[in-house]
Formats: sequence, C-alpha cells, structure tokens
Amino acid sequence: MDEGAEKRLLQSGDSCSLEPPPYQVPAYPRQSRRRRRLFMRSVLSIRTGLSFVVAASVLWLCFAVDRQYRAQSREDGKASPRLLQQFEESLAQCRGLNRVPGRPEPGSRKSNPRWSHTNGQAGVVVLKNATLFDGEAFIPHAVDIVFSKGIIEAIHKTADNVKVVSDDDVVEYDVQGRYVTPGLVDMHSHHFLMTWPAAEMTDDTNEVNPDTKAFTPSVRAIDALKAYDEAATLILSGGVTSSLLIPGSANLIAGEGVPVKNSLYSGEHSEPVVEDILLERGIPTDERRRYMKFAFGENPKRTYGYTRLGNAWHLREHLQKAKELKGKQDDYCSAILEAHSWRESRKAGFVHHHGKFPFQLDLESTVAILRGQVIVQNHNYEPEDLETMLRISHEFGYRVSGFHHATEAWQVPNLLKEQGDNVTIAIFAEFSLYKSEAYSPSLYAGHILDKNGIPVAYKSDHAIGLTNAKYLASQAAIGHAFKLPEEKALQSITSVPAKAIDLDFRVGYCRPGFDADIVVWDSHPLSIGATPLQVFIDGRAQLDESKVKESMDTTFTAALAGDSNISFEPQVRYDVSDKQRKQTCSQAYEAGQSFIIDGIQKAFVDNYPELAASAAQADNEPLKLVVEDGEISCFGAAASCTEAENKFRANGKKVLHLSLQNGHVLPGLTAVTRALGMTEIATDESTGDGQASGQKIGDPESLVYAKYGLWLDGKEFARARLGGVTRAISLPTADASGFVQGVSVEFLTSGKKSLTNGAIVRGDVALHLALGDITKQSEGTVSSGVQHLRKMLEDGKGKHNGTVYGRVAAGELPLVVHCNNKYDMSQLILLKKDYPNTNLVILGGKEAPYVADDLAAANISVILSENRPAPDVFRDSDAVVGPPLTRSVASYLKEAGVTFALAIFETAMPVDYRIHDLGPEAGWAAKYAHISQEDSVRLVTSNVESILGLDKSKDLVVFEGNPLNYGASVVLSFHADGETGKLEVATCFPREDEHGSSL
Ligand SMILES: *[C@@H]1O[C@H](CO)[C@@H](O)[C@H](O)[C@H]1NC(C)=O
Repeated sequence: MDEGAEKRLLQSGDSCSLEPPPYQVPAYPRQSRRRRRLFMRSVLSIRTGLSFVVAASVLWLCFAVDRQYRAQSREDGKASPRLLQQFEESLAQCRGLNRVPGRPEPGSRKSNPRWSHTNGQAGVVVLKNATLFDGEAFIPHAVDIVFSKGIIEAIHKTADNVKVVSDDDVVEYDVQGRYVTPGLVDMHSHHFLMTWPAAEMTDDTNEVNPDTKAFTPSVRAIDALKAYDEAATLILSGGVTSSLLIPGSANLIAGEGVPVKNSLYSGEHSEPVVEDILLERGIPTDERRRYMKFAFGENPKRTYGYTRLGNAWHLREHLQKAKELKGKQDDYCSAILEAHSWRESRKAGFVHHHGKFPFQLDLESTVAILRGQVIVQNHNYEPEDLETMLRISHEFGYRVSGFHHATEAWQVPNLLKEQGDNVTIAIFAEFSLYKSEAYSPSLYAGHILDKNGIPVAYKSDHAIGLTNAKYLASQAAIGHAFKLPEEKALQSITSVPAKAIDLDFRVGYCRPGFDADIVVWDSHPLSIGATPLQVFIDGRAQLDESKVKESMDTTFTAALAGDSNISFEPQVRYDVSDKQRKQTCSQAYEAGQSFIIDGIQKAFVDNYPELAASAAQADNEPLKLVVEDGEISCFGAAASCTEAENKFRANGKKVLHLSLQNGHVLPGLTAVTRALGMTEIATDESTGDGQASGQKIGDPESLVYAKYGLWLDGKEFARARLGGVTRAISLPTADASGFVQGVSVEFLTSGKKSLTNGAIVRGDVALHLALGDITKQSEGTVSSGVQHLRKMLEDGKGKHNGTVYGRVAAGELPLVVHCNNKYDMSQLILLKKDYPNTNLVILGGKEAPYVADDLAAANISVILSENRPAPDVFRDSDAVVGPPLTRSVASYLKEAGVTFALAIFETAMPVDYRIHDLGPEAGWAAKYAHISQEDSVRLVTSNVESILGLDKSKDLVVFEGNPLNYGASVVLSFHADGETGKLEVATCFPREDEHGSSL
C-alpha cells in the first residue's frame, strides 16, 4: 500500500471494530513473510512470558490501536460497510492475483466467441477436395472441410464422400484440389494503430513524450485502434486473418498489444467499432490475453539518448519498482487470504490497518508481466541485445515469448536454446542492412534457427509500404527458398506465431475446434505470386468474387486452367559445399579457361540473337553452352555441340564442365537501384557518400554526380550478385531530400573491376528528379516543382545549353522522374507535349494505370518500381494494389502499350536489401500481366537498357533453377568486355557474405 492511501484511510473517519486487530505488524508489508511468521510466533511467546521486549512493543501497539478504535466506536458500534466492501474487493483481487487466461484443449472448442446470430457465418459451408496444410503438415489426401458458426466442425477424407447433413443450409464449394491453409497469423503488425494512407494525426504507434520517458507499459494499443483502416482489407487479401498489433519500438517497454482479426465491420451493426475487430471479441474483458512490447538496442537509444548501458539500467530500475510492488501484494494477499473467514468486525479491522490491496495503475502491467500474465514480445536485433534481454528476464523472473526482428539471432542459436524458454524468433526473410543492428543478417536465418530447434516465425512489421503485411506469405516462400523446409516455412506464418501469442488453440491450424479462418490459394503458397482466391474469417468469405475474377482470371471454385502460361512451384536454392565451390571457382577464374555447361532447360538470350535462334531449334531438349577463349562456340542441343567440344578438347584446352539439373541462361540483369554503391547502411551516414540535398533545379552547377562518389563493394553488392544482377544504375544520393536527385551512373557489380579500370560502364546515365511530397522539401510546393522543371527545360534550350540541362532538353540524356501520383504523372504528360524532345521516364508508377493510355500516347516509358504497391501515403492512396483486389499495375501498362521495365526501388529508405529479387519480381509481373517468361526477363534486362539508352550488355548469367521464381542460384556469370566482347567470369557461386574486392 502506498503511503498516501494509508493516510487517507486513517483520516477517513470510518468507524472501526472494538476488537483489536488479529495481530500487529509494525511496518507491514515491508516485512518478508518469513519475518512475519517469526513475529507471530513472538506474539504467542509473550503469552508464555518468554519475551518481554516483544511483548512490550506489542502491547504498546495494541494500546495505541485500541485507543483509536475506542474513539471511533463511540460514534458507531459496528463494522464499517465501506471497509468490509474494501476487504471483499481486496480479497477478490488477491484471489485473482496470479490468474492467467484459460486455455481450452486444442480441438475441444465447439463454438467461436466472435460468432453472432446477426452478422456471423450463416449455414454450413463445405470446402470440397482441398489439398490441406493444416498448420503442421500437409494432409496426404484430399479433404473436405466443414465449418459453421465460425468454427471448423470436421475434416473428412474427400474419397470417403461424406454427406454433410444439417438443419441449417449446407453450401458446398468444390475447390478442385487447390491448396488450402489456415488463415495466416502475423505476430507483429502496426495497422489500425496507424492507418493507410498514413498521416501524422492518425499515427498512434509510439507513445513518445517527455513525461513518460522510455516506459509506457500502461498504454494500450486497444485505445488507439482505428477499426476502419482499409489496410486490413489489403492484408487479409494476402491471406493474413489474425494479427497481433503492438506499439512501436521507441520505448524500452512500449505498451500492451492486442490481437485482431482483419475483418472490418464484422460486428453486429457493421460499424467501425474496435471491439468488433478484436480476436477475443465475446470473451469477458478480464479473461483476455495480454501482450507487452519491449524494445532494446538502437531505437530507445536513438529516441532517449541512452546507450545500451542506460537501456539496461533503466529497464532494471523500472522492473525493480514493479518487483517491490509485487512483493507487497504477495505479502498482503497471503495475509488477507488467511483472514477470509474472519468475523466482519475483524475484516474491517484488517483493512483499517493494512489498507486496500496495494495497487498502482502505472505499474500494474509490469507487475502482471512478473506474474506471468502478460506475454512478452521483444524487439531486438543484435546477439548481445538478445543476451541482455534474457539476462534481465532471468533476474526478474519473466519469460520472453518472442524476439522480433532479431536479424542477427541466427548467430546464437545455442544461446537462445540454453537461455531462452522456447523463445520464438520472429524475423524478416530479407529486410535488413538498413541500420547497424540489422547489418549482419543471413538469408538462411530461418533454416539455421530451425535446424537448431528454435521456433521461427515470419512477421510483417506492417507500417510502411516495404513492410506491407499483404505479402507475409512471400516471406515464408523466401525462407523456404533459402532452405527452411516446406512445412516449417508454412508453420512459420501459421501455427508458430499462433503459439507465440498463446492462441494456438484457436488460430494457426485448420482443424476441428479451431476458428474457421481459411485461405484457398491459387497455387502452392510458397511459390512466387501465390495469391488467395478466397479467405474465410470466422467462416465468412471476405473476398469479392468479381474482383478476384477480374484480377486473377479465376475463382476458388473454377475448374483449374489447363496449361497456364506462368505457373511456378516452390523452389529451393542449390548450394555447393565450400570445398566444391573453392575447387570449381578457382578453376573458373583461371585465365584461358573454357566451359561446357549442360542441363540448360531454358535460355532467354536476347542479347545474342543468333544464339537465341539456335537454342530455339533444340526443340525442348536440354541445351549445352560451350565457351571457348571467352567466346561462345556452341549453344544448342547437346548433340549439336559435339563438334565444337571435340575441337577444343583436341587443342588440349583447360575445360570446366558443369552439369546442371534445371539450368537457365539469361542476360545479366540490370538494376536501377536505390543506393547501391552510394550508401551501405541507410541510417548511418558514415557508411555513405552523404546527403546531396543542396541541388537546385535552376542551377546545373549544383548537380551531384554519382560517378564521383561510387564504391564497388558492400553487402548489397553481394546480394546483387546472388540475383544475377551484373549491372546497376545508381543515383548520387544516399538520402535525397528535394526535387533534384542528381545524375546517375551505370557500373558493374562484380567487384572484379576497379573504378580506374572498367567498372564504370557509363558515367552519366540520366538526370533524376522526384515529383511528389519530396518536391516540397526544396520547392515549397509540388506545383512550383513542375513550374521550375518547365523553366529548366526552357533554359536548357537557352542559357544552360551547354550543361546537363541542355542535354536533357535535347533528349540526349533521359530525364527520370520518380513519381507515383496520377495527377503528378499527368503534369509530366502535359510537359512532354510542350517539350517533345525530352526523353521522359517515370520511375515508380503506383497509380500509373489511371493514366496508362496517356503515357503510351505521349511515349513516356515507365521503370516500374511499384510492381506490388501500397497505398501508404496520401499522395499514393489510389495505388493499384494488385490481385486479388485489383489487376496488377503491369497488366494495365502492358494493355495500354506503355514501354516499361522493372526495378526495386525503396522510397522509404536508401537500401537495396532485396536487389536479388529482381528476377522473382519479374516472375510476379509475368504471372499477373500475362506476359511470357521471355518478355518478363526483358523487363529487367533489355527494356532497362532501351528506356535509358544504355549500351546493350552482352553479360550472361547461368542459373540453377528458374530465376523468375524464388530459390534460383547463380552458378556463373560472365561479363562481356565492352570493347572485345570477350566473356570473362564475373561471379562464381556467389554468396551473401562475400566481399567484392579483395587483395
Ligand atoms: C480433386 O481435385 C483433383 C485436382 O483437380 C482432381 O484430379 C480430382 O479428381 C478431384 N477429386 C474429386 C473427388 O473431385
């Protein structure tokens, strides 16, 4: 009890019992239980005359207390109802002191508390003939899934042909053998806390203010949810039915999270009511689960100016306060529980003396953590932070349920096993390299952790476009591509996160007794482009069938299309052992080496038209590639190369023979990057060229040139090589703020060439501008930006004729404008009418479909860096989000006849962490724009070159696997020398931890 409360109680004038209190505790409850017991024994001993000192003090206390009671009792002769009520309340609090929410036996539930008569699932639904992953494993035979009132009732073997009978209507859907999974569970999301499009006034993610410092355990996400955030609809369209919403990570203890279902307006009155989106709707408030977000490392450090030393100390200091309060409560409760059967007068006396249950609102949540009543989710990256957080959790006796982000957890699986209590590691499959604590990732993290028996979940961190929760499944697909086994990968987005949030008796499984949250997929959920055709939440279908049909050309019950143009199966990388790699690669790099590569199943070699022709004659037979002295001496069916092979074998040439299973040969990919070679860690200026923010549209002399600041190695280069990217184009600036972004450079990614010797392919590629919100930073308004651009083109023809602006005005140098909004694009279309010579290129394109016809007519090309866009800011709120809600951006561009290429260009921060996904991104575009694989390869090769007027690259990359899907691996890549055209090995079995330049 706090002192104030004690005083108030004593001053309250409530009457007290005549009887003395049952025992006296001078300084209760500061005393430990053990001491109190001793003390009570002493009281007994007085009566036997054994301890005079104790007896005297007790007598004095009895006297003092008794005098007060007597004084009060003159006014009122019986126990105070108010004290009695307080006694009962305190007793009730103590009885529930360590209560944790109930956990029904999985499979035993017969009803879903979210279901309601008025707005719940009506009738019985049967999904017939499903290929089911049930949350743990694939069921080895087709099944029929029966659900009603929002709960799964039965799963029958399809072959058994069970007829479902019910008093209710029974609706059967034949899903034709399609893949079905439980609704996905995302254990880390921020939607509803901040809406899309984002605005300052609707962002309630972090409670950061001078009063609270780094501790806000008492704030609750539930108090800030906007139950109308349309991002939920987008997220569910990716199959994510349940999300744990947690506060942001600025604070060491950030506040309580809450799980939701992503079903808007699902309550009785279809209103945007917070209660209606809660996963635990229908469960009494005090029986619901509680979650706490902790954060450690860079974020609190940056927000509060602490070091990690301060982070840990302040955390301990806070936890200590809670621990002391908990101790008081425990002491109080053991006393009151003994007193529960006393006479009323004595009960009142108890409260009179000991006060009410010791309670402190600001520490309530933290005490509940120490009582194991709150599930702790911890934001952490580095190994030392994981260790510190486990150390502190042991000191204070609470369990860490999940480590989130944990980009570097893969380095310490044994620490996690030994020190953690089955802690789940909730990671990103790829997102990393954007800050120091995310700078030592492994794309194999899921696999490494899983191999060590550690539960792995993928999570979105949904907040900005690049963490869009809609694509949670693709993270599992990527984890699988990097060797996380198939079923483990699917568990990582279903049952593992469900367990980590203690809801694995309700969600995360598609089994009887679980909520009827079910996803029917168009293809294997671990393949590139896998998209839900229907999503059920609490048994209710969520997707609009007409939109699904329009965007995907099929529905969840339509007959399977025969031979679809683009269909992908999950693919796992082929990796060689260190030994084999060393052997092969040291030979490959030797001068004068020749190569025979067979087992090539597909070749897209536009950059060698004559080879494309001969490959086409091979008639579906595997191809063989023979490279002799840097020249291709044969490419075609194996038999057709015998002659060439024999010839150079006879010459005694050194030859490296590689036999592939599913070989693919492509031109080297060309990436338009965000910051490759210009900055290494987005948030650490010391790792980059600096901020090129002083560039002025009116002053060509102010332009910054990337060619003067370029570096040629770093972890993003390694990822570029992993993806078969042999050339890249980078803007000069690490973190451009303003309209003018500078002049880009084209360079080789192999790290095998130096700046002084061939790494730069073209010094000046294009002038880059950014039209949109960023324009305001330098021009004040977007409209001024447009006006200044017109003036710039005018001056380019006049006084700036001899400058870069002159070259832009003459159309000699492309003008690349980063732009997503349809009205901004319209301004560019109008501008192009007035300055037809300008080679105008749009980079971005979220809303391009709205103006696609005009773009085509104006001959403006698009480098689509928003293949799967998000409506995350107001200016882009009409972003065309793609299947199953809309058609894809690429499909509209293709239909309108716009010339376009693909890039991965993160607007939010200068980082190229997924540059290796350029191929899969082209695969995704191909699938939903109905373009051939050949054409989709052009999107990341020849189309980039032709749009930017670059020289045609003769680079070749040999992959094991299909590079349009996740999980292909580069075997070899060849650079073609700009002058001689000779091929030389640029990379050999590239790895993500490989430094480009070495001595
Ligand atoms: C289930 O679907 C598969 C794949 O479409 C099909 O081959 C099979 O005949 C179907 N089974 C039944 C019982 O309809």
